[in-house]
Amino acid sequence: TDLNAFIDGLPKAELHLHIEGSLEPELMFALAERNKVAIPFDSVEAVRAAYDFSNLQDFLDIYYAGANVLLTRQDFEDLAFAYFQRAAADNVRHAEIFFDPQTHTDRGVPFGVVVEGLIAGMDRAKAELGVTSGLILSFLRHLSEDEAFATLEMARPYLHHFVGVGLDSSEVGHPPSKFQRVFAAAQAMGLKLCAHAGEEGPPEYVWEALDLLHIDRMDHGNRSMEDPALVRRIVAEGMTLTVCPLSNHKLCVVDDLKDHPVPEMLRQGIRVTLNSDDPAYFGGYVNENYRQLAAAVGLTREQLTLMARNSFAGSFLDDAAKAERI
Ligand code: HPA
Ligand code: ZN
Repeated sequence: TDLNAFIDGLPKAELHLHIEGSLEPELMFALAERNKVAIPFDSVEAVRAAYDFSNLQDFLDIYYAGANVLLTRQDFEDLAFAYFQRAAADNVRHAEIFFDPQTHTDRGVPFGVVVEGLIAGMDRAKAELGVTSGLILSFLRHLSEDEAFATLEMARPYLHHFVGVGLDSSEVGHPPSKFQRVFAAAQAMGLKLCAHAGEEGPPEYVWEALDLLHIDRMDHGNRSMEDPALVRRIVAEGMTLTVCPLSNHKLCVVDDLKDHPVPEMLRQGIRVTLNSDDPAYFGGYVNENYRQLAAAVGLTREQLTLMARNSFAGSFLDDAAKAERI
């Protein structure tokens, strides 16, 4: 349709993308073969059939298992470059991508192998596709704050490669307050701060992300809509939310895409961006998120344009770089 062509043509930034979540089943099989790693599936079709989730934890169990095929610097480079090729096809001009170092270091893959591989893929994306990017080190919130501190120490020699830190994995039972000290340490190291908040967790967790972690950007944020005072705070701060419609639907954060909170978020003046989260698992890259949400809730060109502009405005690019791109 015309609207889909319009979406395809919008220049955009992607701000909520887990690089491990861009591992397509075809590449999973190829890496399993290359590395002689066993995977619990017979075929690509069997992998896709297993991607039927009723909550966040269902997904995380299979997502961490999938990451077992990633072992070498080349694997991480291939993973990253494959994402950037798909992103470039969606007219993504800039991406700030999460990676979960603990998922790899806890399996014996050295921190430097992961980072150097991802950076090689990002450098290739810049050179061959013209897509710029930044790397965000995300702590696994189901692990301890001490383990997050140990990860931050591993990151120190590679600090110039990172734009920020994030907080992901199982939300309920692992509130932001658990990571208050390590976020303060990351900020003191000059890193920007993001956290997943209000995906499955209650509005109280979103307040904690703002008041205790002092985040610069909020990932998901859906359940903020339950608390009018919290919405006012988010609007007053000009906080950017990285919303992920297909993820929300696949993980049953929303039962029906027609009931997605994005239109209400926009009405209330929240700086919303649209993102793919874990596109290999949730059924589409960023343009598919724009298209399916627009079809379900009826977004206007003005709203779509605003969210694409928000994606550059809410990025961690410096002001001069933003001014060039918005
Ligand atoms: N939520 C929490 N942790 C995650 C996600 C998510 O959507 N994707 C990858 N890790
Ligand atoms: Zn996420």
